[in-house]
Amino acid sequence: MTLPNHKPTQLNAWNELATHFSQIQNQEILDFFELEKDRLEKLSLHWEDFYVDLSKNSVSQKTLELLINLADEAGLSQAIKAYFSGGKINETEGRAVLHTALRSKGTEAIAVEGQNVIPEVNAVKEKMYAFAERVISGDWKGHTGKSIDTIVNIGIGGSDLGPAMVTEALEFYGNHLTPYFVSNVEGDHHQELLKKINPETTLFLIVSKTFTTQETLANANSIRKWFLSSAPESAIAQHFVAVSTNLEKIDAFGIAPENVFPMNDWVGGRFSLWSTVGLSICLAVGPENFEQLLQGAGAMDRHFRDTPVEKNIPTLLALLSVWYNNFWQAESEAIVPYTQYLRNLPAYLQQGIMESNGKGVDRNGKAVDYQTGTIIWGASGTNAQHAFFQLIHQGTKLIPTDFICFQESLHETGDHQDKLLSNFIAQTEALMCGKTEAVVRKELEEKGLSAQEIDRLTPFKVFTGNRPTTTFLIQKLTPYTLGALIAMYEHKIFVQGIIWNIYSYDQWGVELGKQLANSVLSDLQSDTLAAHDPSTIALIERCKGN
Ligand code: F6P
Repeated sequence: MTLPNHKPTQLNAWNELATHFSQIQNQEILDFFELEKDRLEKLSLHWEDFYVDLSKNSVSQKTLELLINLADEAGLSQAIKAYFSGGKINETEGRAVLHTALRSKGTEAIAVEGQNVIPEVNAVKEKMYAFAERVISGDWKGHTGKSIDTIVNIGIGGSDLGPAMVTEALEFYGNHLTPYFVSNVEGDHHQELLKKINPETTLFLIVSKTFTTQETLANANSIRKWFLSSAPESAIAQHFVAVSTNLEKIDAFGIAPENVFPMNDWVGGRFSLWSTVGLSICLAVGPENFEQLLQGAGAMDRHFRDTPVEKNIPTLLALLSVWYNNFWQAESEAIVPYTQYLRNLPAYLQQGIMESNGKGVDRNGKAVDYQTGTIIWGASGTNAQHAFFQLIHQGTKLIPTDFICFQESLHETGDHQDKLLSNFIAQTEALMCGKTEAVVRKELEEKGLSAQEIDRLTPFKVFTGNRPTTTFLIQKLTPYTLGALIAMYEHKIFVQGIIWNIYSYDQWGVELGKQLANSVLSDLQSDTLAAHDPSTIALIERCKGN
């Protein structure tokens, strides 16, 4: 089963949306509340512990109807079938895209090339859970007989960002194991870490889908060398495990076969935290919590697969994003989680969203003549309010923003939670309602300012409002709700790729830099110099000290 193919800008719904946009672009979000008495009811979604409020977006109910037609015309339902059934929808790499199989209930068969993958998924998971239990219980000993108290994930990109973000997000659910993450090829990154850890009680996880990634292999080799400066070669078996699809390369690295956790090529790097790539998560929070993470994602998968578009959270989010990106010409989107636990969610989603949909060629191999991949950025609230919110409130750019908050805090925190929630709610109100000139003048008058001062200050204190936001109010941050939240964004990525008619699951755009880095490395380490442009040659010569 393959994906449908179309030129989005030639779809009827696209053209109707273009006409519709010209008719409603000057209408304000608040006007829609006046015109549509059932707006809140129609535009708020309730799913499990999620309340998703789309009503503060620059859309009328007619806009949503047209966007839903766009999804239909683009063949979304056929695409979803292909996605979930193991179709090779990553066509340029000839692979299926089945991270959803890793969190399915495990009862339905899912076939890749005629082979049901579920028994293998379950077997690998059992191996991972049994290993995690041994490490957590202290049963697994280091080479001097001590139990493990530290884990170090060595990986980059999808082999780092997801595990690091989730481990941090679920810190509350953590056990006695201290997790660390080494990703950057910059040697200072791992050197700083090595100062903090005890080799006798540390377990290193080398995580690389391909086991060819320069950064990961360089870090793994240097850390291995450091480890062997205080331990015999035979100790590698107790302190190094690997996660990869490339079993031959792991063997060459010297890791015992029983310490290898395989993964499949139908799991993309940026969607791999659900696989053995999530071993650090499983160790840090335990198999039960890891399983809950999978369950939450699985529940969101079923919601996405089985719910009509009108009530389908990831699909509606994707359609809104297309609306802003392609009709409003928004340049970026912000994601602001109101919890410090999710401070790295925006960075994690940057890889998921921008590596997936940052494509300029469509599924026919033709350059697109419309905008694709959205630029994502953000930080945790309320910190973000004191950093970049000025620009969102009063700047010249349209920045649709996702506000995410959990109704209950994890600790008993007095009135901190009310303060957090009040900020979270007030920001979306301020962004939509703004503050009129009349209100500003009245406030200044009440402060006793002169008429002249009021005239001078008023323009700076006015908020135009009408700035779109989507609110996610989730009951509580648990492994389950976190799994569902991440899966929600994964499916949003998928739907956008379908509408834009691009391949979301390859990442050829990262290859050229890697290739040239190898060439520059050999220039830096030898007397030769390959052909480069003048600017590059000057930089190489400078770094060589010439
Ligand atoms: O840089 C691109 C990339 O291929 C990502 O997609 C991937 O997550 C990362 O590199 C790491 O790859 P690997 O897990 O094979 O080391």
